Amino acid sequence: MGSKNKLKRFRENETFKNVFQPTREELTEQEYQHKGQWNANFFKNDNPLVLELGCGKGEYTVALAKKYPNKNFIGIDIKGARFWRGAKTAIEDNIPNVAFIRTQIELVEHVFAQNEVDEIWITFPDPQIKYQRTKHRMTNTSFLQRYKNILKPEGVVNLKTDSEFMHGYTLGLLHGGGHEVLYANHDVYKQEGSPEEVTSIQTYYESLYLKEDKAITYIRFKIK
Ligand SMILES: C[S@@+](CC[C@H](N)C(=O)[O-])C[C@H]1O[C@@H](n2cnc3c(N)ncnc32)[C@H](O)[C@@H]1O
Repeated sequence: MGSKNKLKRFRENETFKNVFQPTREELTEQEYQHKGQWNANFFKNDNPLVLELGCGKGEYTVALAKKYPNKNFIGIDIKGARFWRGAKTAIEDNIPNVAFIRTQIELVEHVFAQNEVDEIWITFPDPQIKYQRTKHRMTNTSFLQRYKNILKPEGVVNLKTDSEFMHGYTLGLLHGGGHEVLYANHDVYKQEGSPEEVTSIQTYYESLYLKEDKAITYIRFKIK
């Protein structure tokens, strides 16, 4: 995408009511105004709250929001020009139960309070295969701890990936750490039993991997 187009999207994001772009200081140097208050301040209801982390264009956020009007959905990504797509679609299609936050996933505990979140989707995260990149892997123990700190006790996490490495790494870590794997599938389109929402929604990155005929994997788990 050209820089002119990106700037246009950044400017439009500023005007979207469903986009939040807190600075690091706003999040870390004081209690963020919406922390613990997303339902009260923005959604104006008590419905369950579902996050999509590293949402890109926000395909899961928007599609699940349409499918489940009685749940609230927030997509999070550091790249505003990407989630501009999901935010604009939600506005154009009058989907009220959608918001996007531009921030680093590392800061989720500053954005959400304990027990505020019911469910998390992690869609096609960069697997960060090199050992030195372990700390950036979105299912490493530090990230799991962050997620646990914002999830309700019964809260679940969904991981959808094309990366055999990420799938295996996460399963190993979940088993080793005494977490609860609710469901795992190493080829969601070929192996029977995938939940409908896993096979009926494709993200942008997923569509690229499917063209390469890569297997798409899925794990649903609880962090103990
Ligand atoms: C491979 S893309 C997948 C995007 C989308 N989920 C999809 O499947 O099309 C990974 C996304 O995660 C975002 N991301 C990576 N690390 C992040 C971080 N630490 N905080 C926020 N976003 C991050 C990137 O900006 C990118 O949009």
